[in-house]
Amino acid sequence: MNDRLITGARVEEDAQYEAGLRPRLLDEYIGQDRIRENLQVAIAAARQRGEPLDHVLLHGPPGLGKTTLAYVIGNEMGVPVRATSGPAIEKPGDLVGIVTNLKKNEVLFIDEIHRMSPTVEEILYPALEDYEVDIVIGQGPSARTVKIPIERFTLIGATTRTGLLTSPLRSRFGIVHRLEFYTPGDRLRAGPRERYDHAGGRARRSEAARGGRERVR
Ligand SMILES: Nc1ncnc2c1ncn2[C@@H]1O[C@H](COP(=O)(O)OP(=O)(O)O)[C@@H](O)[C@H]1O
Ligand SMILES: [Mg+2]
Repeated sequence: MNDRLITGARVEEDAQYEAGLRPRLLDEYIGQDRIRENLQVAIAAARQRGEPLDHVLLHGPPGLGKTTLAYVIGNEMGVPVRATSGPAIEKPGDLVGIVTNLKKNEVLFIDEIHRMSPTVEEILYPALEDYEVDIVIGQGPSARTVKIPIERFTLIGATTRTGLLTSPLRSRFGIVHRLEFYTPGDRLRAGPRERYDHAGGRARRSEAARGGRERVR
């Protein structure tokens, strides 16, 4: 029984972690304590009012958990997360299609939001501020702009290059967080979820061994 901790079965367990046990809730999310506390308060308030969370901008170097946190926010709000990325949205019409399909309080996650084209970004402004999109109907002299209402939603933008965001876009985010590198304390707090810390691994093994003996007795 204890052998599995040091054999191939252990690897399988790691794979399961990747597949199903990524942090889903703020309490499972390691580190970034200040951000978690702020989000906890904001999410509780939004849920109580039955409103979407304010638009959220997450910035910081790759690998610090921006994407993970976007999904955690969706889970905490109890809504699906629709995910796309700046470079993937080629035409303004693509974004119109995405935002008009959002349901009340849902989360739209745009990764690498600094790479969105200016014409696509234009669509985003009224969507974020007034929950409507401007679409042009017809061509030439008879063309006219029609405002289409959309559901109230939350945009979560992630970027590694916050300096590249235009200031009108940046100003539309009510919640802005910079993710920090993890501290040694975060790794200790990680406990049984910690995968990289060898000392933690040994501690777990000896605990398992104790458990094994107790079961035998
Ligand atoms: N707070 C966290 N707690 C546990 N695992 C995390 C946390 N943040 C990130 N991870 C893990 O680190 C990896 C990179 O995270 P990711 O969200 O993709 O980073 P980013 O989007 O900032 O590049 C993922 O495998 C994720 O499961
Ligand atoms: Mg990411």
